[in-house]
Amino acid sequence: MNEEEEKNKGLGFSRGLTNYGDRGFSLYLRRSFASSMGYSREMLDRPIVGIAHSASGFNNCHRHFPELIEAVKRGVLAAGALPVEFPTISLGEVFLSPTSLKFRNLMSMDVEEMIRAQPMDSVVLLGGCDKTVPAQLMGAASADIPAIQLVGGPMSTSRHRGERLGACTDCRRFWARYRAGGVSDEEIDSVERRLASTAGSCAVMGTASTMASLAEALGMMPAGSAAIPAVDADRLRMAEETGRIAVSLIGSDRRPSRIMTAEAIENAVRVLLALGGSTNAIIHLAAIAGRLGLSVDLDRMNELSETTPVLVDLKPTGVGYMEDLHAAGGIPAVLRELRPLLHLDCVTVTGETIGERIDAAHPWVDREIIHPVETPVRENGGLVALFGNLAPKGSILKRAAADPALFEREGRAVVFSSLEDLAARIDDPDLDVDADDFLVLQNAGPVSEAAMPEAGYLPIPSKLARTGVKDMVRISDARMSGTAYGTIVLHVTPDAASGGPLALVRNGDRIRLSVAGRRLELLVDDAELDRRRTALVPAKRPPSRGYQRLYDEQILQADEGCDFAFLRSLDRS
Ligand code: FES
Repeated sequence: MNEEEEKNKGLGFSRGLTNYGDRGFSLYLRRSFASSMGYSREMLDRPIVGIAHSASGFNNCHRHFPELIEAVKRGVLAAGALPVEFPTISLGEVFLSPTSLKFRNLMSMDVEEMIRAQPMDSVVLLGGCDKTVPAQLMGAASADIPAIQLVGGPMSTSRHRGERLGACTDCRRFWARYRAGGVSDEEIDSVERRLASTAGSCAVMGTASTMASLAEALGMMPAGSAAIPAVDADRLRMAEETGRIAVSLIGSDRRPSRIMTAEAIENAVRVLLALGGSTNAIIHLAAIAGRLGLSVDLDRMNELSETTPVLVDLKPTGVGYMEDLHAAGGIPAVLRELRPLLHLDCVTVTGETIGERIDAAHPWVDREIIHPVETPVRENGGLVALFGNLAPKGSILKRAAADPALFEREGRAVVFSSLEDLAARIDDPDLDVDADDFLVLQNAGPVSEAAMPEAGYLPIPSKLARTGVKDMVRISDARMSGTAYGTIVLHVTPDAASGGPLALVRNGDRIRLSVAGRRLELLVDDAELDRRRTALVPAKRPPSRGYQRLYDEQILQADEGCDFAFLRSLDRS
């Protein structure tokens, strides 16, 4: 028995004892303090299911978590264990500055260490908003005790003057119309109050919904659980069921490292492509994989993208909302369509394989929302990686959300050196820009002070927006919200702040984009690029302390999931 196993022998409160140099005393003391919470002897002797939840007053998406936690507890108690909830950091997407991604690794450390340090025999991870599910899966992968994911589920849609509204694709649609002068102050105020009107995560196939779907595809959640609306009674029943499954995981070998295998991660990439899902998911999958000694290879993603059709017709690329996906058959129906392309032997938290889950799913499907492979929404996958001298380690384009008329072209670069520069000049009536130009944003990547915000969705300069321009080629080292759309090249790696080629682009340079060729080329000769590289003055970073210092020293690029170097699997470092 190694040191870790020795520490964890026993179940429930006798597991992982506080070290006073006397096991008997440690157990006596712990049980005595646990008794102060009113547990009976019978409860104190039970194995424990931890419930790691991320409820917070700064997270509207999780406002219904108290009710969900109660439902999980019901399931755990009914199956014979003791449920013990504990809070972790919460990441409410729109409440964090400069951006939630900066704190995803912090949350993952919280989850990992609290799972490991506290006495639990399995754990339910309860998250929902964009970065919470990746952080929980990363932490659970590193701690590697039996774990099951539960999500809060998507918001339901509302109505504005007869029009269906859901966060947050419709947020952007209305804001773009407002910027172009097509929506009044009074109407945008009214829309603001209707966009997010229930508990739950954003109502479209944004990052939260994508990550929920991928958690199911990875096998870390019960079948059919990703898309159940937050306010539906089925969500509570699923929470109860999750509690029961968590008890069945105790003592089993169904640990995250046995479930999130290389094949399971490839299944998740297939599902991501078939959903036309969020670009952020590639970063999160790479980070989760990195915790397990695995990786997400962008060349391999391109291969998968050629043979994986987009099947799901949801916003931001299509018409429906997450509640429609649930009613249409949910992720099990999507998996059934993808059956010939998946690794069917992958084991899930319930012990079933993905193949068995597909066989068990009800055959009914709404073809308006989940298309058959024969007549897909589009023939190939929603995402592609682009490489070239501007992005030697890759960049991402969500082609499903882009204008194909802009896919093969050359353009003049209009460069913004930072987010501040962008904000100061994008709407300047004297900005030298036309609709065929490529907007380039620098210094918004993971190494920058901005910490890779969702700023890659550069606004169309208002003088062009007012003439009806709706899309332009936009290139940056930033990310984009999963709810956004446009011909937007993201995650250019290495990023500008680390001295990547993106930092060398100057106003007026020509850039060639070829989606067919998977290329992104800066058409400037090597000698000139060398001259610019030599003259590059690295941005002065103020001295840092605390978490900022950890971030500055440890942050990795997008191709490694923007994880911290020291958190990746020891096998790889
Ligand atoms: Fe939480 Fe969109 S703000 S999922």
